[in-house]
Amino acid sequence: MQLNASGLAAVPGLYHFEAPPLLEDFTGDPTYTILQPFFMQQCGACHGPNPTKGLRLTEYATLMAGSESGPVVVPGSPDDSLIVQKLKGGHFAHSTDHQMEILRQWISNGVPE
Ligand code: HEC
Repeated sequence: MQLNASGLAAVPGLYHFEAPPLLEDFTGDPTYTILQPFFMQQCGACHGPNPTKGLRLTEYATLMAGSESGPVVVPGSPDDSLIVQKLKGGHFAHSTDHQMEILRQWISNGVPE
């Protein structure tokens, strides 16, 4: 990437638009790989390298390993999954309705990697 004198990327338009929410255009069967950028962006600050409550969401294996209190996803049952319950209750991270739908669909489908 080219940088100009002020250190900003010299890519026309790049900094002039608000990026649309992640996954906004996604339809189909979600996998962890599809969801990972969402976890990185919305959860990674607190559930990444410094995993709050022992919960690291930024890798499939560590997400599946759960938190200090146990599993955070119950394959096939979004409503029983702590991850959904937390976000529904209004957690630190904001997620759009569409992102929540994709998350629920992923859990319903058995949390494929
Ligand atoms: C600003 C920091 C922060 C962000 C961002 C954040 N969390 Fe958390 N998370 C916490 C804290 C603090 C707790 C412990 C207190 C609580 O349960 O509310 C927690 C707890 C949790 C728990 C419960 C773990 C347990 O054992 O009780 C889950 C599940 C969870 N977070 C999921 C997420 C998800 C999914 C995201 C992203 C969409 C996210 N969090 C983003 C700070 C954060």
